[in-house]
Amino acid sequence: MSFDLEAIRSQYPALALTDNGTRRIYFDNPAGTQVPVCVAAAVADCLMTKSANLGGYFGSSLDADRVVQSARDAMADFLNAPEPDEIVFGQNMTTITLHLSRSIGRLFRAGDEIILSQMDHDANVWPWVLLARDLELEIRWLPFSKDTFEFDLAALDNLITDRTRLLCVGGASNLTGTLNDVKTICAKARAAGALSFIDGVQSAPHVATDVQDLGCDFFVCSSYKFFGPHQGILWGRREVLEQLEPYKVRPAPAELPWCFETGTQSHEGLAGIVAVVDYFALIGQSMAQEHLAGWAQFSGQRQQVHAAMDLLLDYENTLTNHLIDGLTGIDGLTVQGITEKSAMDRRVPTVSFTHETIASATIAAALAKQNIFVWSGHNYALEAAKSLGIYETGGVVRVGPVHYNSIAEIDGLLEALPALLSG
Ligand SMILES: Cc1ncc(COP(=O)(O)O)c(C=O)c1O
Repeated sequence: MSFDLEAIRSQYPALALTDNGTRRIYFDNPAGTQVPVCVAAAVADCLMTKSANLGGYFGSSLDADRVVQSARDAMADFLNAPEPDEIVFGQNMTTITLHLSRSIGRLFRAGDEIILSQMDHDANVWPWVLLARDLELEIRWLPFSKDTFEFDLAALDNLITDRTRLLCVGGASNLTGTLNDVKTICAKARAAGALSFIDGVQSAPHVATDVQDLGCDFFVCSSYKFFGPHQGILWGRREVLEQLEPYKVRPAPAELPWCFETGTQSHEGLAGIVAVVDYFALIGQSMAQEHLAGWAQFSGQRQQVHAAMDLLLDYENTLTNHLIDGLTGIDGLTVQGITEKSAMDRRVPTVSFTHETIASATIAAALAKQNIFVWSGHNYALEAAKSLGIYETGGVVRVGPVHYNSIAEIDGLLEALPALLSG
């Protein structure tokens, strides 16, 4: 079997919901995806049968221990982490980043330099700006081109000096949809002796992740962006994690990865993570046979999950092309992201646009009336919106399809827009 959209969609109860007889069309996915039945069932099962704190001698506690270990194993497969003990869980990406930045900052001295990107979500910007303020670090900004929506990697060479200690960039932009060349960026950081901190929140739902191949030191993502529960996940390179002083309370474990997990975790969320990685593995087994060979260096679930991501991205690319073809044909509308066919492999399906006269919020509200769900505004990518000159004017309309969306749903949006934009 190859990609089977109906088999996928049937697993998502939310896709069948209607309001006054009209189907919901979910293009709000970059802000959070819907969840398949298997994930919801795993969360419910954990709450109903495995509710206990960790480390006890009794059955429910042992079950909860197993859930946490399975979630580390699952995320190690999903990210190709060398060891499950390098996986740290937390509330969400923002909380993990704010927390870990304190520990990372203890490696730095006043006058050290960090490189931040003007494309990133504020969760990979402001924690570091606050750190720089507290420690008197110097910030150097990596810009992106308003024409190509990509970083100029030659410009990055000019930003790196012998005082560069840290480079923070996103895997993919939540505003423009640009998919960054993280591997090259991390190689440049490493060559300069700097650490790299990658915000994978918007790349992980679309692109198979291999943290070892990327060559980064930290990779953070959020499972509610890839069909799982609200949960943040960090992978950190063991040698680096071991150098960091954890900010923790005294009785909490001192060992990795526990020392970076503050307080009691959401075990039900972790059960959902196990289930969502199983979901990808099942797609890998049942629909992505021809993609398995591309990941022959892996086996078992790790191979299936990576093959599944390739299959899903292939399908998503058909959605992206269709969406961009349609949007670029509408008068007065500008796509704020890559549109050239030859560069489609450098973007994810998240497509944002502005209109020459109508505010993005007005368009999003009008679409909502037709049960088409999109976000508008800067979507927390403040620096990116400022760089594009659309911060003051209300940002973009963001349309974010994923693998459970259909061409018919995109047509629904493309048919709704002209009438709505002509007033
Ligand atoms: C690129 C990017 N980074 C970080 C975040 C923040 O993620 P979280 O809600 O898990 O803190 C988001 C949320 O939309 C995002 O899109």
